Amino acid sequence: MYNQFFGLREDPFNLTPDSRFLYLTWAQRRALAGLTYALLSRKRCVVLTGDVGTGKTTLIAAALRCLPADRVRFSVIANPTLTPEELLESALLGFGVTEIPSSKPQRWTALERAVAQEEAQGRVPAVVIDEAQKLSLEALEEVRLLGNLEAMQVVLAGQKEFHRLLARKEAQPFKQRIALRLTTDPLSAEEVGEYISHRWTKAGGTPPGPFEPQAVRTIVLYSGGIPRLINVICDNALMTACAEQTARVEERHIRQAAASLDLSGPYEAAEDAEFETGNHKGVLSLR
Ligand SMILES: Nc1ncnc2c1ncn2[C@@H]1O[C@H](COP(=O)(O)OP(=O)(O)OP(=O)(O)O)[C@@H](O)[C@H]1O
Ligand SMILES: [Mg+2]
Repeated sequence: MYNQFFGLREDPFNLTPDSRFLYLTWAQRRALAGLTYALLSRKRCVVLTGDVGTGKTTLIAAALRCLPADRVRFSVIANPTLTPEELLESALLGFGVTEIPSSKPQRWTALERAVAQEEAQGRVPAVVIDEAQKLSLEALEEVRLLGNLEAMQVVLAGQKEFHRLLARKEAQPFKQRIALRLTTDPLSAEEVGEYISHRWTKAGGTPPGPFEPQAVRTIVLYSGGIPRLINVICDNALMTACAEQTARVEERHIRQAAASLDLSGPYEAAEDAEFETGNHKGVLSLR
């Protein structure tokens, strides 16, 4: 609704993981490289974890895009609240098998066949499971068995609760299979400014964009550097500025946006947080 007012081609702070808006910090670059390297060098099992909204799905999507389709064949399971049988079915569907056998042994045979076919065509077969924190222990065990298939690669991405699942005694056989652990972290104060400018210019905006330096510092405080929160705060603040016909986004717009989003105190995810915000270093006591 504010695109025309700010001279934008499209929404700069859309919540879909859109590759054109991808902004990679040094740490995310390293995680992306680790992910692609692990798949191509057949490390078998990779786990990516991070706080809610820090860019796990975005990073997975980036890896899927940058690996050529003739080198890796992905079967992506985006919502793994499934029984072990359904998980197998989803994996099969992802590899293009549409006639799903009804019995479990037949499903395994079909999967072995699909994996062998990919191998024969020179492609690494990989099952990617997002939202892995939602896996049941039984489904996790099925994922471990998937990894037993010759050549099969498994990538799991999940929120930090996934660590709790992995800490369970029953999950130890799976845990031993993890060859590489990667993380996504919140952006630093400096990166928040770069992230906002990056998205702004990608959406067709003129640099340096409408956000006052103090507004950016306030975004750092309320978002804790979490990209999803940065997006919603910026989007709301731009709407308010547009409604006022104000071309600059000021600190008060950010505070208003944070209040309307019920982000009532600076970043809520930690008990205490310390952020460098330009020349101001603040230790925040959170609510
Ligand atoms: N590296 C990035 N570059 C550009 N935008 C990003 C990046 N990381 C995250 N975002 C933005 O933040 C939003 C949230 O990211 P994403 O959905 O990948 O987080 P997540 O860690 O998978 O969250 P959840 O824990 O809820 O699954 C994305 O839709 C995207 O708009
Ligand atoms: Mg996600």
